[in-house]
Amino acid sequence: MSTGTIVVAAGSGTRLGAQRPKALVDLDGQPIIVHAVRGVLDVSAIEQVVVVAPSACLEEVTDLVGGDRVTVVAGGAERTDSVAAGLAALERLQPDLSVVLVHDAARCLTPVAVFERVLDAVEGGAAAAIPGVAVVDTIKVVDGSGRVVATPERSALRAVQTPQGFAADVLRRAHASGVGATDDAALVESLGLDVVVVPGDARALKITVPEDLMTARRMLRDGS
Ligand code: C5P
Repeated sequence: MSTGTIVVAAGSGTRLGAQRPKALVDLDGQPIIVHAVRGVLDVSAIEQVVVVAPSACLEEVTDLVGGDRVTVVAGGAERTDSVAAGLAALERLQPDLSVVLVHDAARCLTPVAVFERVLDAVEGGAAAAIPGVAVVDTIKVVDGSGRVVATPERSALRAVQTPQGFAADVLRRAHASGVGATDDAALVESLGLDVVVVPGDARALKITVPEDLMTARRMLRDGS
């Protein structure tokens, strides 16, 4: 198995309200991207990491995280474009690539055990595996005017996180389909392939709004 990871970090982070791209926002003395890459490098099975950064910050991100196992490339306008750029770079670094993880830099405190559960599922033969947690809220489906059109059974719902893991040829095919999506697993579903959910973790929260930064800081300080 030749395993590589794409860390997508090219988002602007508008919802965080910072003056900088989210990946460069400070979390307890270090930029979010430094925490994220450190977490990935703790997973010994991962040979190469490609960080996809905003093109205006390539040099800064390279200085922060570039190294033997880490290459930094420029991202695109949409998340899907950034993943595609990361995949192309990873394939240049690992021509024998067999398993790919796609990870949001914004989920920078994801425990190693979550990476390992995803990797185990893909190495065990799943086309795609994603971490998920049960939802606590009741979720409604609404139409364009905000009218409720459906209430899915809560026990069947999962909030999904990253890293999302794929057999490399599956991710290649998913991206070749040219469809856009908020996660890569959705592209695999649209190919008609099975995506399995493994247990996620509260610490894999996606830092999105200022309150999330406070939650992440608390998690770091508590060591929880
Ligand atoms: O926007 P959203 O919160 O869904 O972004 C999830 C992840 O995708 C973030 O880590 C962000 O940096 C990344 N992203 C990207 N390129 C984009 C948009 C988002 O790498 N064009």
